Amino acid sequence: MGNGTKTAVIIVAAGRGSRAGGDLPKQWQMLGGQTVAARTLSVFAAAQRIDRIILVLHPQEMDRADAFPGVMAVPGGDTRSASVRAGLEALRDQDVGKVLIHDVARPLVTQQIISDVIDALGVHRGAAPALALPDALWRGAQGMVVGSEDRTNIFRAQTPQGFDYETILAAHRAFKGVAADDVEVARAFGVNVAMVPGDARNLKVTWAADFDRAAEIIGGEMDIRVGNGFDVHRFGDGEYVILCGVHVPHDHGLAGHSDADVAMHALTDAIYGALGEGDIGRHFPPSDDQWKGADSAIFLEHAAKLAREKGYAVNNADITIICERPKIAPFAAAMRRRLSEIIGISASRVSVKATTSERLGFTGRQEGIAAMASATLMLR
Ligand code: CTP
Ligand code: MG
Repeated sequence: MGNGTKTAVIIVAAGRGSRAGGDLPKQWQMLGGQTVAARTLSVFAAAQRIDRIILVLHPQEMDRADAFPGVMAVPGGDTRSASVRAGLEALRDQDVGKVLIHDVARPLVTQQIISDVIDALGVHRGAAPALALPDALWRGAQGMVVGSEDRTNIFRAQTPQGFDYETILAAHRAFKGVAADDVEVARAFGVNVAMVPGDARNLKVTWAADFDRAAEIIGGEMDIRVGNGFDVHRFGDGEYVILCGVHVPHDHGLAGHSDADVAMHALTDAIYGALGEGDIGRHFPPSDDQWKGADSAIFLEHAAKLAREKGYAVNNADITIICERPKIAPFAAAMRRRLSEIIGISASRVSVKATTSERLGFTGRQEGIAAMASATLMLR
């Protein structure tokens, strides 16, 4: 076994996709708003345990790599095996211990499979996802069934197939002939390959109809996120407070580093929370003087932009402001409008309401204002 410490993935994308038809090879055709290749790469880019991504491209399509910064592009060969070999050779002297080899044509690969294969490589020199067959198996000839096969020990092979790097490199160098996949190459070299659970969704786009099947699977997947936020600012001198971006006359102001818009802060944190992106303090440190007196719309705009960049739309937001005074109701409509402008969604998706705390606690004693917010985000 080699002693490299990094885990790499080689994504082979040098094929012509002749069975799928279309004007472009299947990996450059669109699936749910992005190319098949972009979707496949995004899954591995999001995989925490993958350190390096190698993309094997057709020699005439090397410029496709421009769309994938941080990915190392390598020209492939005439067969799948030759393309894998090119990827393996390119990883020499890169401190790679484990390597996953994946067909670009499987854009629905899951984080679970990637993680299971890597786990199994802790124990075995080779590991790959396998699926048991639900259907009976026949032999046929001239349109007639001529026999039945026992399916008990038959499995459908998927990718990514993972290996100890030095072992699979040596196996590919030694292999003669044409292999269906890398498990075949490894086994011919005497490597034991463990099976981990495959996933029926991890289909290989092969024929034109597979695009529809893949699109259905993507469409049926809903990623909904909920985040919450809470904030408090104390009263200080002043003649107005800013709440949800709206100027509200009052006999005190709110103290804080920025404009102290406690309600907008709660909502901003709710969006960061749904994204798993920390809170305002992480993105706009209070130690940084440039945010002194800042319009809090800057923070909310940033959170909404971050959501969009990650492919999420803010579905709705709900804010509760907790104070005895000032009265919020007369300003609620303007507040909803202002927040909806900043986030870029309809005001009907934004709710602003208020409650007193029955003169109990710090809000009841009118020492400050508290606000809480929830937001739901949906993956588009
Ligand atoms: N592949 C490759 N280099 C080749 C041939 C295939 O990198 N010379 C890759 C394909 O891009 C694909 C994977 O190997 O990701 C599996 O191959 P397959 O599904 O057969 O894709 P194609 O060869 O592109 O399709 P077809 O056989 O229909 O032409
Ligand atoms: Mg092929």
